[in-house]
Amino acid sequence: MYLAHRYGIEMEGACEASLACTTCHVYVQSEYFDKLPPSEEKEDDLLDMAPFLKENSRLGCQITLTKDLEGMELKLPKATRNFYVDGHKPTPH
Ligand code: FES
Repeated sequence: MYLAHRYGIEMEGACEASLACTTCHVYVQSEYFDKLPPSEEKEDDLLDMAPFLKENSRLGCQITLTKDLEGMELKLPKATRNFYVDGHKPTPH
């Protein structure tokens, strides 16, 4: 995710990799998907709430780049959801 940000790619990352959103949702190229460490339960729980979930979905902020992943391509979903902004109910003053 931080590499995407460095190159101006529109991957939001609203929670700054604290596993509290799905705005870093990406689709991982199939030949690289199995090279990634398995996702943890919290990531899976979040992905279950991500719009346009696919079998190769992961949270971009949880992908640590290694030499093994050189050449990997990721695709962004057509939309993401920011739970705080989308579900925010302001309280009256
Ligand atoms: S940036 Fe929020 S889970 Fe990845």
